Amino acid sequence: MEKSIEALLKEGRTFKPSASFRKDAWVRDEKPYRDAAKNRLKYWESWAKQLHWTQKWSKVLDWRPPFAKWFVGGKLNASFNCVDRHVEGGRRNKAALIWEGEPGDERTLTYADLQRAVCRFANGLKALGVQKGDRVTLYMPMIPELAVAMLACARIGAIHSVVFGGFSAEALRERINDSQSKIVVTADGSYRRGQIVPLKKNTDEALVGVSSVEKVVVFRRTGQAVDMGGPRDVWWDDVVKDQPCVCEPEPMDSEDMLYLLYTSGSTGKPKGVKHTTGGTLVGCFATTKWIFDLKDEDVYWCTADIGWVTGHSYIVYGPLANGATVLMYEGAPDWPDKDRFWTLIEKYRVSIFYTAPTAIRAFMKWGEAWPRKHDLSSLRLLGSVGEPINPEAWTWYRQVIGGGRCPVVDTWWQTETGHIMISPLPGVTTLKPGSATRPFPGIEAEVVDEQGKPAQSGYLVIKSPWPGMLRGIYGDDERYEQVYWSKYPGWYLTGDGCKRDKNGYFWLLGRVDDVLKVSGHRLSTMEIESALVDHKAVAEAAVIGKHHEIKENAVVAFVSLRHGYAGDDRLSKELREHVVKKIGSLARPDDVIFTVELPKTRSGKIMRRLLRDIAEGRTLGDTTTLADAAVVRSLKEKYEGQEA
Ligand code: WTA
Repeated sequence: MEKSIEALLKEGRTFKPSASFRKDAWVRDEKPYRDAAKNRLKYWESWAKQLHWTQKWSKVLDWRPPFAKWFVGGKLNASFNCVDRHVEGGRRNKAALIWEGEPGDERTLTYADLQRAVCRFANGLKALGVQKGDRVTLYMPMIPELAVAMLACARIGAIHSVVFGGFSAEALRERINDSQSKIVVTADGSYRRGQIVPLKKNTDEALVGVSSVEKVVVFRRTGQAVDMGGPRDVWWDDVVKDQPCVCEPEPMDSEDMLYLLYTSGSTGKPKGVKHTTGGTLVGCFATTKWIFDLKDEDVYWCTADIGWVTGHSYIVYGPLANGATVLMYEGAPDWPDKDRFWTLIEKYRVSIFYTAPTAIRAFMKWGEAWPRKHDLSSLRLLGSVGEPINPEAWTWYRQVIGGGRCPVVDTWWQTETGHIMISPLPGVTTLKPGSATRPFPGIEAEVVDEQGKPAQSGYLVIKSPWPGMLRGIYGDDERYEQVYWSKYPGWYLTGDGCKRDKNGYFWLLGRVDDVLKVSGHRLSTMEIESALVDHKAVAEAAVIGKHHEIKENAVVAFVSLRHGYAGDDRLSKELREHVVKKIGSLARPDDVIFTVELPKTRSGKIMRRLLRDIAEGRTLGDTTTLADAAVVRSLKEKYEGQEA
């Protein structure tokens, strides 16, 4: 790790914005940074004023650390701001969503179409008994109806909790139970790499023993036969059939919850991150407009799944609040071939493209021939999110995909932050490959040492509240205070390591806690460990992320077995499948290593650092605190034997 960091900081290339890009950019100079530094609240207020409120706020910020309220007393509706405002303001017949399914089917919804669809589903939800404040779980494919369902919830004041379609039935159940959702919206299935993911079947399994759910709304996507025999099951089509296409938006308090999104932390239990209406909308609106330099003529494409926060903020709320044309794609990048993304960019003349380093590294591996087959000249800006991007991948992305002419915005943020926090502004910032550069205007970020003193290398913290910040963990304020605010009272602890260079640029170094990024998906080592020890053969498990060329991390599980079980290939396979069943295939371990014992300190703490050394084939670090040094020596030998 240290070695690659040194390489990063030696990365000397810089890229100034081109005169032609800068000429038309929303931000062309340092003024916004100065304005925000001079009066942060006035600056954020100026963004809020660009949205539609039915009642103005009386105070911009109420800050009782660690609890913030933004635009206090203000009332607005997120679906009105993302849809109706544009219908009334001249974008009625502009494409809001251009969608392509994995099999190649196409649909386009104008803002007027979107308004009708949202209102009808909102009325349908009301008819099913959904009221303001109720939670609605959405477990859906990447189809327009997912955005419609989110906006319909927002319209009537229900809180949506989107669960990524790659999570298993058990993971879904845990999230439904924690949120006590009244409704689950799903589909018969979704397409992925030519296969069908059985969403309804998973939902049925998830709902065994769940009492909060009154109705399961099923959208017909694939047309395959599903069991609709349950008393709770209703088809989407029947829910909207007789509903009027007008639905008065509920005036929501700025601090009313807009959504809940479950994410992985340092324990086995996922956290329901709470986001509110006013702050989310203002933060997503502002960052989308400036960072992507979004204009009316753009065709904007973010490749994330809406099941993750990136899709919430940068497929739905940010772009739609700006009245953008958003491309949405249902399936895999390598289906039917490895140029599906480039085919889409060429076909729809995409101008802004936002994806993840893990995808970029896969594209690199697949080779330049695939993008070279296509006309990518419509692109004018590229973005990256989800993990640190290595300078090689950054440069390849800029050159091969962006033709050397598109700025690359490397955007750092988290589920908890709600919107981008550190990123270039493409018309002003000189880019350095591998650096997220500097905080967005109005964001006060710092790198500090253990004592909280500014440092060249250390923990990334945010020193003052920002509009889209999480408002807590659903049902667990104590965990919220403890995880994010206890190390440095009054400052938000991000969990990321970071370096600053001589120009003050931020270089993100990855997580310093037990959170893993695997192909951009956020997982916790503890969650996977709990899934493993849930299996009858497992006595103890320790999970680490091993550096992986494309995925960033590969999951490696060290497992000790209960008496009477043999660590053979069959069991290894069974344990992997057990993790898939408990969490989803995104968490399937790449390696399972059986061991008689795990390396522990004398006080019984598992030394994951040593396990990482073993998995990555390094000489072992300091082993003096180990209770039994022989354990790691034999493990190392065993691992090396297995690798060979
Ligand atoms: C990592 C995704 C480096 C980081 C939006 C963070 C990044 C975690 C970047 C949050 C980036 C995200 N450079 N690291 N540009 N963007 N990360 O909640 O470790 O899925 O803490 O949100 O992703 O992951 P999450």
